[in-house]
Amino acid sequence: MNKLDTALVTAALKDAGFALTEHVKEANIVLINTCSVREHAEQRVFSHLGHLKHIKKQKPDLIVGVIGCMAQRLGQNLLENDAVDIVCGPGQIPHLTELIQATVAKNEGQVSVADNIRKADNNPELEDFESVQTIADRDIPGQAFVRVMRGCDNFCAYCIVPYVRGPEVSRPVNNIVEQVNRLADEGVKLVTLLGQAVNKYKYTAGEKTYTLADLLYKVSDIQGIEWIRFVTSYPQKEGFAELMQAMADLPKACNYLHMPTQSGSDKILKAMNRRYTARQYLGLLDTARQIVPDIAIASDFIVGFPDESDEDFEQTVDLVKDAQYKNCFVFKYSPRPGTAADEKLLDNIPTEVKKQRNYKLLEMQESISVALAAGFEGKRVNVLVEGLSKKPHLNCADSGGNPQLVGRTADDWIVVFNGPVSLAGQFSKVKITKISPLTLFGELI
Ligand code: 5AD
Ligand code: SF4
Repeated sequence: MNKLDTALVTAALKDAGFALTEHVKEANIVLINTCSVREHAEQRVFSHLGHLKHIKKQKPDLIVGVIGCMAQRLGQNLLENDAVDIVCGPGQIPHLTELIQATVAKNEGQVSVADNIRKADNNPELEDFESVQTIADRDIPGQAFVRVMRGCDNFCAYCIVPYVRGPEVSRPVNNIVEQVNRLADEGVKLVTLLGQAVNKYKYTAGEKTYTLADLLYKVSDIQGIEWIRFVTSYPQKEGFAELMQAMADLPKACNYLHMPTQSGSDKILKAMNRRYTARQYLGLLDTARQIVPDIAIASDFIVGFPDESDEDFEQTVDLVKDAQYKNCFVFKYSPRPGTAADEKLLDNIPTEVKKQRNYKLLEMQESISVALAAGFEGKRVNVLVEGLSKKPHLNCADSGGNPQLVGRTADDWIVVFNGPVSLAGQFSKVKITKISPLTLFGELI
C-alpha cells in the first residue's frame, strides 16, 4: 500500500514539474512515506529525521515532509520535530504540491490530515487523483500495484490501520478496469490488486454488486495482462469458495493466497477480535485446496500478544504444522496507541519470550518451506523476471558470464538463475537445480 502511495506521489510531483533524485544531498525536498503498524517502523522515521536535521544545518532551505500513516497518527505534533516542514496524511496526498508551494511561499510548516478519520469515507479527490494515474512499478519492469479498496473496518484489537487509513471504501469497478487497461498498454504483465481485507471488496453499479471474484473475471479479460494476484485476504467464509473458484477458472489468476492467521489459539484470536477460530481457518484452507489443489498459501502471525501463554503459542506452532504454508511473516506484538489492545490489555509478554517465540515459529516454518521447495527440484517453472539479483548466491551455476537474475513463479516462489539482464519484465522458463527454504535456484532453458 505504501509503495503504491509513494509511486502516486512521485507521479503527481513529476506532473507538477518536480524531478526525482535518488540522493538526499541533491534534494531540495525530502518526503518520507511512513508506516505506523509497529513502533519499530516509526522509530526508524525519527532516526531519518535526526539525520535530515543535520543536513538542514548546511542547507536551511531544504524542505522535509512526513506523509502517510504516521502523519495521520501524529498530525500537528510532528511539526514540533525541528526537521519537519510538512505533515500530510494518506488521504491528503492529492494536495501535496500545494502544501509544498505554501511552505515555500509562507515560510511556515503545513499540516494536512483528516480531522475525523473514521468519517473520512467519501474522498472523491483521492479517487480522482488515484484513477488518473497509470503507475507501473519503478523498480520492477512489467509489474504494477492497483488499489481496489482503501481503509479497513475490521478493527483487529492490535491494529492501527483503521485509525490512520479510515473506513473501508471499494473503488469503482470501471476506474479499476480502465486503470489496468492503461497499465497493460504500457507493457504491464502482472497486476497485484490491493486492499487491507481485499476479499471484502464490494461495489454496486446499477443492478449489480461486484465482488473480488467478479473483479478477477473482468481484469482477466484485459489483453496483455498475464498474471493477477490479490493481497491481503481476511479469513472469512463469505465469498471464499467463489473467489477460489475464480482462481481455478482463470488461468491468469495466480494460485497464490496470502491470508494472515495471526494466532492458532482461539483465546488469543478472540482477544485480537479476529472473527474465526483456528478450526474455521483451517477449514478455509481445505476449501482452497479442494478447489485449487496446487495453491500456495502464505500467512502472517503475531507472537507475544497480551496473555499469550506457552500453551497458546504451542497451538500456533501446531497450526503452522497443519497449514503447510509456503511462507510466513512473523511479528512481535507492538502496542499501538489508541488501539483496543493497547487500551485494555497489558503488554505482559517479555521481549525475550517474544523473540524466542518468533524464532521458534520461523524455524518450524522453515522446515516446511524446505520440504515444499524440494518438490521443485528437477522441475521446469515459468518465472516473471524482476531484474538483477540483489545479493550474489553461491548456489547458482554460472552460465558463461551472464549475471544472476531474480524472478518469481506465479505462486510467488523466488527463483534465482543466470541470464541476460534484458529478460527483466519478461517470462522465462527455468529448470530448478537447487533449493533453499525461501529461494529456488536454476538454469535458464
Ligand atoms: N504488532 C505487531 N504486528 C502487527 N501487525 C499489525 N499490527 C501489529 C502490531 N500492533 C502485523 C499483522 C499484520 C501485518 C501486516 O502486521 O500480522 O498482518
Ligand atoms: Fe488491521 Fe485487521 Fe484491518 Fe488487517 S484486517 S488492516 S490487521 S484491522
